[in-house]
Amino acid sequence: MTDERLMATGANPEEDPIERSLRPQLLADYIGQTTVKQQLSVYIQAAKKREEALDHVLLYGPPGLGKTTLALVIANELAVHIRTTSGPAIEKPGDLVALLNELQPGDVLFIDEIHRLPKIVEEMLYSAMEDFYIDIVVGQGPTAHPVHFPLPPFTLVGATTRAGMLSAPLRDRFGITEHMAYYTAKELTQIVQRTAGIFNMALPGESALALASRSRGTPRIANRLLKRVRDFAEVASADSVSVELVDHALTQLQVDDQGLDQIDRKLLLMMIRDYDGGPVGLSTIAANIGEETATIEEMYEPYLLQIGYLKRTPRGRMVTPAGFAHLHIPYLTKK
Ligand SMILES: Nc1ncnc2c1ncn2[C@@H]1O[C@H](COP(=O)(O)OP(=O)(O)OP(=O)(O)O)[C@@H](O)[C@H]1O
Ligand SMILES: [Mg+2]
Repeated sequence: MTDERLMATGANPEEDPIERSLRPQLLADYIGQTTVKQQLSVYIQAAKKREEALDHVLLYGPPGLGKTTLALVIANELAVHIRTTSGPAIEKPGDLVALLNELQPGDVLFIDEIHRLPKIVEEMLYSAMEDFYIDIVVGQGPTAHPVHFPLPPFTLVGATTRAGMLSAPLRDRFGITEHMAYYTAKELTQIVQRTAGIFNMALPGESALALASRSRGTPRIANRLLKRVRDFAEVASADSVSVELVDHALTQLQVDDQGLDQIDRKLLLMMIRDYDGGPVGLSTIAANIGEETATIEEMYEPYLLQIGYLKRTPRGRMVTPAGFAHLHIPYLTKK
């Protein structure tokens, strides 16, 4: 999902330059997430006025909604450096010390997938976040001694798709917690129009809306589908992208009118065919469709829950009447 290497500065330098150019740089260019933006804007301005580091920020929500992008925007708005890494990339305390050691006052340290930090690293982060110091043990055996290591004030920005997997002590050390919500079709329309502009591609409003409505509320998916639509337009030598062309491209990609892909439909269909629509446990679903439970929980299920095709019950997941209707299968009131 995200890069696991340590990065020198800013965004991953190996990131596709096109991908990088698609990322908005400032809050004003960042489309949607209105509440999050309004709140952050106040906190950023206040921190700048007081010449203090911004309080630590936790961003959580489903993949592809712009958490990494927002972390970069925060650093830009604060006019500070950002160092980017991810939970699994910080394997041992020494890795964290190396990162913290590079920070200048006010800098942002961005840790993606922060729920995957090793426990021993996480515990070191507590004092770093709260009082800007770490205690490390230097040397071995009889010569081993603790060293108190002060840090400049910095801002930790953590991102996670699984807020529930963060331990309470870590979660409590973030002064600012922001939930990223799915985007509306209108917001996604603006995002694909902006991207089309960067691609120098003519995309009429109604075509942008057609594409946006089938992007699962997710900018990453909207941009990805736009790239494929652009390929279809190229091959058809079309100067402008018509709604028909969008429809043709998305049908070829097996994205349906609600934006569901093959795996979404496979999941719903399996639950209906094999389990009368549920309840079915997560691990059973995973085994039946050949995906990891985490993938289902993080990538597929949230949107199906959001649009009301699935619901969670204490006994497992269930397909709702709307889910049945989407697959054109009659909903039978059971047992
Ligand atoms: N608000 C936005 N306005 C314009 N483009 C956006 C916005 N949010 C995200 N994007 C675009 O969507 C893509 C995905 O965003 P990003 O990588 O920040 O998501 P993410 O939440 O960090 O995902 P993951 O959880 O997988 O790491 C990027 O190409 C980015 O340019
Ligand atoms: Mg990311």
